[in-house]
Amino acid sequence: MEKREVIITREEIAKKVAELASRIRKDYKGKNPLVIGILKGSFVFMSDLVRAMNIPVEIDFVVLSSYGASRESSGKIKLVKDVQTPINGRHVLVVEDIIDRGLTVRFLLDYLKFRKPASLKLCAMFDKPARRKVEVPIDYLGFTVPDTFVVGYGLDYDEKFRYLPDLCVLEEQE
Ligand code: PRP
Repeated sequence: MEKREVIITREEIAKKVAELASRIRKDYKGKNPLVIGILKGSFVFMSDLVRAMNIPVEIDFVVLSSYGASRESSGKIKLVKDVQTPINGRHVLVVEDIIDRGLTVRFLLDYLKFRKPASLKLCAMFDKPARRKVEVPIDYLGFTVPDTFVVGYGLDYDEKFRYLPDLCVLEEQE
């Protein structure tokens, strides 16, 4: 089994969620935003964030995945589950757990823009800029993380560890 080291604690995460929610609340008050989470990873952050925002919002989810067996070799993103809410004229906030190569979010932002939202912004809890392949504008960012394998707070390794309340680095054991 892998050893885990906590790099961002649940308390630091909670404080950051409160800060982001406060900024977003000010920006979206009275706009009834549509908050769209990218499954699966965003489910923990999204649920914390919308409750901390504490203004009327609607929520929806998309499922996106990389084509092919290997994430590293594939640059193509597939829409597995679309939003069910009409986008036209809505103030849309996309919520993502982590921006890595940027491909997932770039695909979704382009796809949503095509449907003419009133506004379109991105909120990401973690950013791993060392891995970026395409630029994406992050309007609300939680933490920049190093180029290591991080799990917890929604992030998985082979579908494990999503439930961990802290952000952890997986360390190989001899
Ligand atoms: C992870 C993460 C982001 C995406 C970021 O999702 O949750 O959605 O990768 O990668 P990118 O910036 O390189 O495109 P994953 O495809 O592992 O699915 P999951 O959310 O179900 O874990």
